[in-house]
Amino acid sequence: MARVTIEPDVASLSARAAGRIVHLISSAVETHGSATVCLTGGSTPERLYRLLASREQEYRQQIPWSALHLFWGDERHVPPTHQDSNYGMAKRALLEHVPVVAAQVHRMEGEIPDARVAAERYDARLPLAFETAGRTTCRFDVMLLGLGEDAHIASLFPASPLLGGGADAAAMHPRVAAVWAGHLQAWRITLRPTAILDAEAIVVLVAGIAKAGAVHAALERQADPALVPAHLLREADPRTEWLLDREAASLVKP
Ligand code: 6PG
Repeated sequence: MARVTIEPDVASLSARAAGRIVHLISSAVETHGSATVCLTGGSTPERLYRLLASREQEYRQQIPWSALHLFWGDERHVPPTHQDSNYGMAKRALLEHVPVVAAQVHRMEGEIPDARVAAERYDARLPLAFETAGRTTCRFDVMLLGLGEDAHIASLFPASPLLGGGADAAAMHPRVAAVWAGHLQAWRITLRPTAILDAEAIVVLVAGIAKAGAVHAALERQADPALVPAHLLREADPRTEWLLDREAASLVKP
């Protein structure tokens, strides 16, 4: 079973997540000399990033920034300056305020006109980036994820072709793909399930009553990843922890 932690509200949830992320980063640095952390988009992570960057909190001091290597689990097909950019959000909330090493920040290039090219480039870049972090494999130490109201994680939406099949493309570009999200009428660039599930620790951060149905489906419904992409995480159950606020957890059995 995945671990589930429920906090009374989004403020205490963010503090819990910040403490947990700091701990996971420190353990990775102790073991490997570096920490490879994959960030996500979304409003709840944004609150977490602001907390990690805050000068009034202890987290900023506790993070060994020079050993931190940052990646993204998914990106919108927009330039980094666009308000929808996941990198842009992390930049405004976190990166601009902390001594992170610019060469160790590996964003997906959402500005490339063909999202498939952006995905291929990220896929090709990962081995080199991990090598710089002193690693021989592309295994993320920390995979931070949000959850959509439709139970998507990263940009793996219900019925996505990336949830099954696609073996040929996956053989050429094993970790990253571009996907057309019909319901959004937009391309997304995303890690493939295997790259997500391979992570040493997966932290799913979810807040708000609007997510209660998705959390319930993800944790309690019979496995059907094509309908509930978050079910993929069951494969990595012992390495996955769900951090929820009380509203998001309101339909979960005690
Ligand atoms: C994105 C994401 C996505 C997100 C969830 C939750 O770019 O949209 O990475 O997977 O984490 O949709 O987002 P909210 O916290 O904003 O609901």
